Amino acid sequence: MNEIVFRSITKTYGSHVAIPGLDLEVAKGSFVTLLGPSGCGKTTTLRIVAGLEQASAGTLSLGGRCIYSSAEGIFVPPEKRGLGFIFQSYALWPNMKVARNITLALTEARMAASEVRNRLEDALAKVQLKGLEERYPSELSGGQQQRVAVARLIAARNSILLMDEPLSNLDAKLRTEMRRELKKLHADLGATTIYVTHDQVEALTMSDVIVVMKGGMIAQQGTPHELYHQPANLFVAEFIGDPKINILPGHMDGDAQGPRAIFEGFSMPMAEGFDVDGPVTFAIRPEHVEIHPKSVAGAVAASVDIVQPMGSQTIVSLTVNGHPVTALIPKFAQGLGQEEVWVSFNREHILVFDKSERLCVPEKPSVREYRRNTGG
Ligand SMILES: Nc1ncnc2c1ncn2[C@@H]1O[C@H](COP(=O)(O)OP(=O)(O)O)[C@@H](O)[C@H]1O
Ligand SMILES: [Mg+2]
Repeated sequence: MNEIVFRSITKTYGSHVAIPGLDLEVAKGSFVTLLGPSGCGKTTTLRIVAGLEQASAGTLSLGGRCIYSSAEGIFVPPEKRGLGFIFQSYALWPNMKVARNITLALTEARMAASEVRNRLEDALAKVQLKGLEERYPSELSGGQQQRVAVARLIAARNSILLMDEPLSNLDAKLRTEMRRELKKLHADLGATTIYVTHDQVEALTMSDVIVVMKGGMIAQQGTPHELYHQPANLFVAEFIGDPKINILPGHMDGDAQGPRAIFEGFSMPMAEGFDVDGPVTFAIRPEHVEIHPKSVAGAVAASVDIVQPMGSQTIVSLTVNGHPVTALIPKFAQGLGQEEVWVSFNREHILVFDKSERLCVPEKPSVREYRRNTGG
């Protein structure tokens, strides 16, 4: 069942169109991430769900209830939507101790004192802040303050959670830790979650579904696995993955043996069924670039420019026929100097994009057969 449904939601600021028309369905209990560069409309979308911003047109429903409709003149205010949210500045009250920051909304809703105490205990335990409830926010580290904000979200027990870049103010180590905690929190609470970030690692590590946004529109929506392995367009291919996917201009050609990819000195046989002529862009992820010390079949000569060991992996920057190519080797690589090597690409993993930057997938033989028979 879908918990949150957007239908043709638009948002304009004066003459500026921030969201030209968004259709999106968020399944109950799922963790959906809005991912995209700064200014692509993530925060605006989230604020429209929260009711902190009114859309310009369209309809929005939560749990089957219409909370916004331009045609019917419906706008349910934020406090009546039953949502929990954390925004980038997690806004703790500086004059209130941790416990009161966590329970304020509960006491204001006149919840029984014993229930408030239970929820506080539970939330403090989940974010590992027990013993700090009598401190003021200024007596906590940034990461601890962040966890107070998470505890407040846990205590409220909303069935829908909205989070806008909640980890952006943390250092790298804490971010990694909090990613795990937020994912666990989602598993524990089962709350439908919309999470906003510009960080593709956060999106890949936590989400059931990632929605990549560009210019207020959806560039692609799918599971992390789908977006990583089958990016629908070059924008998504380049936005997801670190180090970045290699982009190589070339063209498709063919002979009696079938289609071939021609680029940067390579001429590689490709899977049957690529129905594309003329210039294309090939893309291959760094982990599918192989480096060989000697010439092997299918490899071309390359020079090593920079070697960056990261412990369990090594990033190697190469030049192939004047074109930069990055390889990611799954070990601490040693002995790769500024020398001549040979590189090959795993052709199973080469993605082909047409001139409108859309992914070309090989057509199934049955479709080609049908076209041939019908002249289509
Ligand atoms: N209050 C506002 N007034 C005018 N333009 C705005 C306002 N809020 C956002 N925008 C514009 O809308 C677009 C989307 O912004 P935003 O949703 O904040 O992007 P993101 O969160 O993805 O960085 C941007 O072009 C931004 O400049
Ligand atoms: Mg934002």
